[in-house]
Amino acid sequence: MALLRDPDVLIPEIHPLLQDRWSPRAFDESHVLDAVTLATLLEAARWSPSAGNSQPWGFIVGLRGDATFEAFRTTHSRGNTAWTHRASALLVTLRQLESGPDHEIPFNGYTAYDLGQAAAHLSIQAQALGLHAHQFAGFDHDAAKELFEVPDHWAVTTGIAIGRLADPSVLDESTREKELRPRTRRPASDFSFAGKWGEPLELQP
Ligand SMILES: Cc1cc2nc3c(=O)[nH]c(=O)nc-3n(C[C@H](O)[C@H](O)[C@H](O)COP(=O)(O)O)c2cc1C
Repeated sequence: MALLRDPDVLIPEIHPLLQDRWSPRAFDESHVLDAVTLATLLEAARWSPSAGNSQPWGFIVGLRGDATFEAFRTTHSRGNTAWTHRASALLVTLRQLESGPDHEIPFNGYTAYDLGQAAAHLSIQAQALGLHAHQFAGFDHDAAKELFEVPDHWAVTTGIAIGRLADPSVLDESTREKELRPRTRRPASDFSFAGKWGEPLELQP
């Protein structure tokens, strides 16, 4: 039996925080994200690793109902507009493209990787606090850059909606259909190799 080839036969367990993480659209409109929780999420991002410790990430934070939240919402795609208003917070994520007067970075080849990793840390911290994070790229990046007066050496990258899970019945029909769609993944054997690219990694139990 090959461990990576038979995911239905032998599924290795992963940590519950990872196992239970997913990207919901149904958020609880009555939930308020308090300042300590928000600071904790940003602290989790802060302590993620980065190339040469360059920390090339930035977050613009809106809380439901405030000006940042509402401004960011105006840039969202139609699909995302249908659900982002229920999030407790909406974050714009930014990655640094090159050094600037605000922050020197040793090199810039890995900033997308580093921001992604900071976002992953933040998402898992949200999960640990009983919340969910839903990252999204479906919005007008140029409009967001202009709205938030982002300098040219930073790139608006994604949004992250954070909130407490609600019942899917709060969603309109088409968004609910997406919410209830089964989640799928490629088997690990599709992307794990040994020896050379494409050569199967054989793991025996
Ligand atoms: C960079 C990025 C962009 C995404 N864009 C959107 C989006 O615009 N709208 C949306 O509903 N979900 C978006 N998602 C969420 C993905 O669709 C979701 O993570 C993926 O389907 C896996 O589902 P899961 O997170 O529930 O495991 C995005 C996720 C990432 C990481």
